[in-house]
Amino acid sequence: MTTHRLLTGKVVIATHNQGKLREMRDLLAPYGIELVSAGELGLPEPVEDGYMFSENAAIKAIAATKASGLPALSDDSGVCIDALDGAPGLFSANWAGPGKDFAPAIARVQMELAKRGAHAPEQRKAHFVSALVIAWPDGHQELFEGRVYGTITERIRGAGGFGYDPIFLPDGHDKTFGEMTAEEKHGIPADGSPGLSHRARAFHALAAACLRKPG
Ligand code: IMP
Repeated sequence: MTTHRLLTGKVVIATHNQGKLREMRDLLAPYGIELVSAGELGLPEPVEDGYMFSENAAIKAIAATKASGLPALSDDSGVCIDALDGAPGLFSANWAGPGKDFAPAIARVQMELAKRGAHAPEQRKAHFVSALVIAWPDGHQELFEGRVYGTITERIRGAGGFGYDPIFLPDGHDKTFGEMTAEEKHGIPADGSPGLSHRARAFHALAAACLRKPG
């Protein structure tokens, strides 16, 4: 168990992705921590040249803690599609291009799956991964990971969430992440069990190790 906890004070959320920022703010809301994003602090986006989600998450958290002198929390995440040998995976953000427009990224996923003749749901299995890293200014780091398994739909369904949400149908559910409310996608159940999304699941482990609810 970690000796480092996030109990009070300011924490940097080391992301420039507005969708992630919104979800991380929701997930941290019950803990009474003051949050500031890397964007609000004007911190540059570091080059993410790791070979694993956890490495890229560490690169972002360490850069933000060094630049700000505050503990920093980052998420590196992506969708891994079995029929595409795990692509887009680490490159999930890159498939959207510099404009960060997910319509072409989703179109590319559909085209790559069609090229392989993957039309049936069992040929379109995928999972999301979230690696969360907290880095403290004294050099200490903690890593937590979460995954959610599902299927890539043939049609875009729903306008909620961000990124690949409108084409990801989590196993055991009949709504895509794009059709779900924020609470359904990443809310933390009252019974203390992990939530649904990859980020909610990674966050559940982080909360158990490093967070305490005030009062
Ligand atoms: P990065 O971790 O900032 O390199 O980018 C992660 C990319 O993965 C995002 O830009 C999205 O394309 C995708 N992604 C990660 N988490 C989610 C999610 O919860 N929903 C939809 N897309 C996601």
